[in-house]
This record gives sequence, structure tokens and C-alpha cells, in this order.
Amino acid sequence: MADHACFDPDRFASHGYPHDIWARMRRDTPVAWHDDGIRQPFWAITRYGHVTDVGKDSDSFINAPGVTILRKDQMIAADAPRVPLLLTMDPPEHHKSRMVLRERFKPSVMRALEEHIIARCREIADEVAAARVRTAEGDGRIDFVEAIAMRLPLDVILELLGVPGEDRDQMYLWSNAVIGSEDPEYGSVDLPREAIVAAQQAMFAYFARFIAARRASPREDLVSLLVEARIDGAPLNDREILGFCFLLAIAGNETTRNATSGAMLALIENPAARAALTADPALMPTAVEELLRWVTPIVYMARTATRDVEIGGQTVRAGEKVVLFYPSANRDESVFEAPSTLDLARRPNRHLTFGFGRHSCLGNDLARIELRAVLTELLARFPGMELAGPVDRLRSNFVGGIKHMPVVLAP
Ligand code: HEM
Repeated sequence: MADHACFDPDRFASHGYPHDIWARMRRDTPVAWHDDGIRQPFWAITRYGHVTDVGKDSDSFINAPGVTILRKDQMIAADAPRVPLLLTMDPPEHHKSRMVLRERFKPSVMRALEEHIIARCREIADEVAAARVRTAEGDGRIDFVEAIAMRLPLDVILELLGVPGEDRDQMYLWSNAVIGSEDPEYGSVDLPREAIVAAQQAMFAYFARFIAARRASPREDLVSLLVEARIDGAPLNDREILGFCFLLAIAGNETTRNATSGAMLALIENPAARAALTADPALMPTAVEELLRWVTPIVYMARTATRDVEIGGQTVRAGEKVVLFYPSANRDESVFEAPSTLDLARRPNRHLTFGFGRHSCLGNDLARIELRAVLTELLARFPGMELAGPVDRLRSNFVGGIKHMPVVLAP
């Protein structure tokens, strides 16, 4: 039986990731049955090798039944709007849908965006330095998340989609409600499903208007590309396009935002590593990989077994769910030397932060470029940045989120 603390959202909110518990599970019960009576039961997979075994075997483990674990009392939401999502498709549909986006996210296209992203980071830093966005206390503290971390990923993904920048703050609130549905500030502890459904409906209505506008007069953006795309010779319908818009608007911002906040926190908490990176910017590429490993903003993705499969001496029965704990795999001592040490020069570093297998993150090149750009700018512009209060974490066992992180730019 798995220790329920490994999946308890209250514990994530109060203490961050339960790395001590995952370490114990990796050692003693690497494939453990988790049934807390509150959520759908599942097999907790905590070792690196088992996570990649499952990721590789997309015949035996599928996504369509859902990649998240739901609360039992929140599973039936008859009014929940449904759209096809790339993340919950299986072959052959998955491959065909992924091809629609792949060209737009390939490394060469992303590299062409790099200068623009660097310039955007400068603007954000300029604005922060000029305004010194103050907290209610008026003491020069700023909220790193809202003043800095949330901005670049949202601006970039909305710009790619073609959504006007002035709608960024609205998109931030909707996306927080979807991802933070079990959080008292972003969603609702008692009725998370309602919080998601309301935000989804609002996002769908917004994007439906937007898609209609692009159908009437296409431009160069992603939504126009989706309007003109074909799968097996047929154009996508509005629900299919909505699915892409919704997934990209969420996946393209929540993850990179939390990677940025988590990376800055790790650097503040490890002054020697931060000093080394500031002194030697050539360290940035390996540093970003290590910070991605260290932070691992997505806690898990679930799969559903299509047949009985043995993993680590346990038999997973057809129809049962397995949960792949990426942050645990990323601290697996049989793969990473001294996994609990932040080593910005670590090489090799085959972390699973972007998942593994056919669903592995489509936006990973973009995320890496954004992280390099934002960290380079912040280290250069605000070398004295320090924490100025406790970090306020998201109540979620799916995204390792930081909601608020008070900092002073220069003490
Ligand atoms: C640090 C930032 C990011 C992290 C940690 C991250 C993580 C992940 C993970 C863990 C998956 C699922 C893999 C699996 O199930 O095996 C995924 C899928 C995906 N991500 Fe990301 N992601 C990030 C940034 C982005 C960005 C910037 C975009 C888009 C612009 C994006 C778009 C997607 C899409 C579309 C999928 C679904 C792929 C599929 O099902 O084929 N992600 N991401």
C-alpha cells in the first residue's frame, strides 16, 4: 500500500514535494497500490525505469480514459464541456493530431523566436525595475509569480495563438482555475469540478469567438493554421480546434511559470550555485536542465492498462490506472548521482520532466528557450534578489505550483 501522503494536496500546499516519502517508496514499494477512499485508486510508480517502461508501451498503457486522478465524488459532471485533447488521444488519432502542431513547434521554428523572447524578457525586467510593483505592505517587495514568472510564458503562447495581449490577465485567471481547481484561492476545496467546468466554459466561449474570427479572415497565427489544417484530408471542426487552443493555453503557461518560480527559488536557496551561474553564463544550458530536473513542475501523468501487465513484481490488471511520478523518477538514485544535490553542471541529465514516450512534451524546446532567456535576464538585472517572505504553494497534487513568492529585488 502506498503512503497516502505521497498524493495529499494539503501536504503539497504546506510542504512542497514529499521527496522523503517518494524515496522510501522507490526503495521499498516502487509499484504500490494507492487507495485513499477519496480518489480513484491507482498504482503509484516511483522508479525511473518503471516510468520509462510504461511510457514506452503505449499498447498496454493508454491515455484516453484520462491522465489525471479524479476525486470519486467529483467524477460525474454531466454539464462538463468536452473537447478532444491531444493529451488524451491514443494511436492512430494521437499521431495524426500531433502532426498538425509538430511543424510549428520544431526546434528550428522555436530558435527563430529566441531573439523575440529575449527582448520580451528585457521589457518585463524594465517594467519591474521601473514600477517596483509593490505589495500591500508598500515595502518594496514584489510577488515574483505575478510580476515576473507568469508573464513570459503566457505572453508567448498567447502571441503564438494570436490572442490579444490585453486578454492575458483573464487567461491567467481561467487557467489557474483549471489547474488549481482544488486550491482555495484559485478554485474550490469542496467543489473542484465546478471550478474547472466554469473556467472551461468561459475559455471555450472565448476561443469559439476567436476561431470564428480567424475562419472569417485568417492570419499567420496558430489558430489560423488550425483553421486551415487537414487530418486525413478533412478540415478540423470547431471542437477539435478548441481542444488545441485549450490545451496550449494551459500547457504553455502553467508549467513554464512554475518552472521559472521554482528555478529562481532553487537559485536563491543555493547561493553558491547561483554565484557560479552568474559568473559563468556558459553554464546556462546545463543549469536549465538541472533546474528542470530539480523543480519538475508536473507531478504526474496517469495511464490506464489495456491488459494485465507485470511491473516490478506487481500485476497491474486491465482497466487499472498507473500514476507516473516524474519528480520521484528525477531523484532516482540508480540513475542520477547524488540526486538530492543541485549540480548545475550535471551531465548527462536525462530527466523526465517533459514526460517520456509518444506524449512527451511538444513545447519542450520553447520552454527551454524561455527558461534560458528569463533566468539570464534576471541574474544579470537583479543579482541581489532575495526571498522576502514565505512561499505560498498551490494546493494540488498534479502541478507543483507556486502561487506567490515575495522577493526584494535588491536588499
Ligand atoms: C517547463 C515547462 C513544461 C513542462 C514541465 C511540461 C511538461 C509536460 C508533460 C509532463 C507532458 C506530458 C507527457 C506525458 O504524458 O508523457 C507534456 C505534454 C504536452 N505539453 Fe508540455 N510542458 C512544459 C511546457 C510546455 C509548453 C511551453 C507547451 C506549448 C507551448 C507545452 C505543450 C504541451 C503539449 C501540447 C503536450 C501534449 C503532447 C501530447 O499529448 O502529444 N508544454 N508537457
